[in-house]
Formats: sequence, structure tokens, C-alpha cells
Amino acid sequence: MEVIIQQDAEAASLLVAKLIAKALRENPFLVLGLATGGTMEAVYAHLVRMHKEEGLDFSLCRTFNLDEYVGLPPDDPNSYRQYMQRHLFSHVNINPRMTHLPNGMAADLDRECDEYEKLIKRFGGVDLQLLGIGRDGHIGFNEPLSALLSRTRVKALTPTTVAQNAIYFGDPHKVPRRAITMGVGTILDARRCLLLATGAHKAEIVAKAVEGPVTAMISATALQLHPKCTVVVDEAAASKLQGHEYYRWIFQTEPEWAEFR
Ligand code: PGA
Repeated sequence: MEVIIQQDAEAASLLVAKLIAKALRENPFLVLGLATGGTMEAVYAHLVRMHKEEGLDFSLCRTFNLDEYVGLPPDDPNSYRQYMQRHLFSHVNINPRMTHLPNGMAADLDRECDEYEKLIKRFGGVDLQLLGIGRDGHIGFNEPLSALLSRTRVKALTPTTVAQNAIYFGDPHKVPRRAITMGVGTILDARRCLLLATGAHKAEIVAKAVEGPVTAMISATALQLHPKCTVVVDEAAASKLQGHEYYRWIFQTEPEWAEFR
């Protein structure tokens, strides 16, 4: 795991967008794993700007989102399909047929989950998986006690997650209580993982995810097992990391990061 500390949320989200753009330029057929949530909005805004100003080309790439609420149709404004339309898909030249999210309205949800796994495999697996982190340490909707080898399936959301997402629904009672999510094992199969966390409210969970013991209680800790995982944080989210100075030194001295300093 590498930890990159940026001065503020703006710089952290820009760095993540640059890493995605670089991967896309190197491989136009990139299979990109996407995430939703407030933190990602700035990343998508940068990607949209790069498309408009620098011609960043999405026409050949394929995307798989981490998760979708059960019971929300794709045209519901709170569905993750609509989130993706709003923040990225409708502003760039991506082929809508190459954008995939689980269908939370499927009559047979277990089958939908199996099909989603098969689809990811059919297109060669995820090259680069973008991740946020929930206050309970979830990646995707892999809530506490998610098996570290879990695959795409339906998960019940914790009260913490329901509270965290209630702002979008206006009323906690309207937040769906279940979601289809890629499993922790599905996420670990991606060739590269890129987690972004910003803000002081993420400091404690980031420290546990990066420096704490691996535990199914905090699914983000499973990323410690991944051979190529980059965690990008701002100063506020990094404030409880013990290895703060060491991570900073690595970023300042590794040739790999020279173009991003
Ligand atoms: P947030 O969500 O970006 O809105 O904090 C992150 C997550 O729950 O994965």
C-alpha cells in the first residue's frame, strides 16, 4: 500500500483524476471500476474538465460501478446510475452500453449478482478500481463483517451508512436498507486499487484502514493485502496516521511520483 498525502481535498481529488487520466491514455480500452459518494464528485468534475479541455477520450473504455441500491429504478435521482449520469457519463464521450452498474430492481437479485461477476470477468477484469471509504470503513457497500473473500451480493446497510447517506434522500426512512455491492474479493481482483479519502471526519477510519490490523469489521483493511493499492488523502484525513512523515518522504523521493509532485 502506498499513501499519498496532499495539502487539501482539491489537490487530492486532482491527483486521483490525473492517475485515472494517465491510465486511460496508456490504455484506451481500460476497464475502470467506479465509485460514488460526495468525495468522488470532485474527481469526476476534473475528469469532465480534462475531457473538454484536453480531449481525454472515454470512447473505448468500459466501466463497472461498485454498487447500486436495491429497489431504486435506474431513473430514480438517488440511484447510483443517475449519480454517474449527472457527474460523469452525460458529460464525456463514453459509450452508454459500456457503462455497467448492478440492477437493483432485478427480480432475481442473486442471479443479478452472479451475472455482474461474470460480466466483469468476460471483459478481462477491472484494471483500475476507484474507491471511497465509508465512516464504518466500508469499500463499496461491504459493511462490517463482510467476508474478506466475498463476491458481488446483496448487503444490508448499517445504521451508520444509512445516516451517512440520508442527506441525499432528505429523510433517513427513504434510504434503501439494502444494496448490491461488489464483494471485497471482487475488489481485490482489480489490477490496481485507488482509494480517495478527504476531510477530518475520515481521519480515524483512514488510520485504522491503513495502519490497523486486517479485519472483516473494516473491509478497507483488506486493501493491505492488495499488491498495488494507492491511498490518496488530504492533510485532514491523514492527521491520525502514524507514518505521516514517512509516507510524505516516499512521495517526495520516488521517481514514479515525480510527474505528480
Ligand atoms: P462519501 O462516501 O464520499 O460520501 O464520504 C464514501 C463511501 O461511503 O464509500
